[in-house]
Amino acid sequence: MFKSILLIGATGVGSFGDYVAQELAKEFGHFRRIAFFNNTSRPTDDAKQARLHNLQSQGFEIVQAADYASPEPYKGFDCVLIFLGNHGLYLQPTIIDAAIQAGVRHFYPSEYGADITVGQNWTQRYYKYKVQTRQHLEARARDVPDLGWTYYLLGRLTEWSVLSHFGFDNKNAKAEIYGTASGRQSLISSADSAKYLVETLKEPLSEDAKANRRTYRISESNLTYGEIFDVLERVTGRKYDVTYLHVESALEEESEAKKSGDIDAELAASHKLIQGREGTLLPSETWDNARFPDIHPKTVEKALREAFASKRLRKAYGLD
Ligand SMILES: NC(=O)c1ccc[n+]([C@@H]2O[C@H](COP(=O)([O-])OP(=O)(O)OC[C@H]3O[C@@H](n4cnc5c(N)ncnc54)[C@H](OP(=O)(O)O)[C@@H]3O)[C@@H](O)[C@H]2O)c1
Repeated sequence: MFKSILLIGATGVGSFGDYVAQELAKEFGHFRRIAFFNNTSRPTDDAKQARLHNLQSQGFEIVQAADYASPEPYKGFDCVLIFLGNHGLYLQPTIIDAAIQAGVRHFYPSEYGADITVGQNWTQRYYKYKVQTRQHLEARARDVPDLGWTYYLLGRLTEWSVLSHFGFDNKNAKAEIYGTASGRQSLISSADSAKYLVETLKEPLSEDAKANRRTYRISESNLTYGEIFDVLERVTGRKYDVTYLHVESALEEESEAKKSGDIDAELAASHKLIQGREGTLLPSETWDNARFPDIHPKTVEKALREAFASKRLRKAYGLD
């Protein structure tokens, strides 16, 4: 299996890539090289420098370059995992081309969410660059026959699902949700999904496993919004005042945002459409959890109890 792996966009504290880094730190024995890409032209500060130093002191390698387009930094790696956030997703084809030129033959594109092939997801603005990245990989596979990839899907990360960006006002125990109380979504904690992801890195690319063009669907539970608010009431001791809004009304919000050129507002409106139409639901019969029976993911309630006790996440939730 992969012996040398390079992670891109994974140096931010609290990012999804950070959770994967924490799991990889327990797995040095399985890999010859585990490296993090530091794009030196990206903004930096003391916290980022401290983070890079901390990764190095744990035994991770830091690979530096001023852009993603040169093949040099990718040389010697057999798998590149991309964890870029929404505003960096458009860079993935550049990364893929440079890394292929350097000899890399397997990619984990920055997915880690819904199945973008189901329902109306494929044409949603929110997934525009994830779709383009899949199309790019599939186009490159025509001239690079041994090119492989892993689409790692999980629905939603529990800790992110109750942020204000998604309509939650945790300070005042209120919420505005597009959809209905019976609308479902797949949830799994960030740490557990990172554990499963690391296990997929250890699975062989053989025909009797999932070969070299793989999709994994991993989650913990498919809760309705009604059930999520019951959990939040038990976790916070407060009953949330929830307003459910007609999902299709987000279409108007999306077109206003498009007109004004506000990309974040456009993404937020698009996410409301996805979420309200159950676009982040992974049917449990499609999950691959059973391939990794040693992992016992925590429940949404346990994940939220830990999140509401975490200093960093309390701040993100507007509580402190
Ligand atoms: N399903 C879910 O609920 C869920 C929740 C969270 C995340 N995710 C997924 O996980 C992946 C990572 O998300 P995240 O929230 O962890 O990402 P993030 O923290 O927003 O960003 C990760 C890194 O991307 C780089 N980046 C951001 N904007 C950039 C730009 N304009 N140009 C170049 N680089 C840029 C930055 O790297 P530098 O430090 O090098 O600048 C940043 O540290 C995404 O695919 C996201 O959709 C899914």
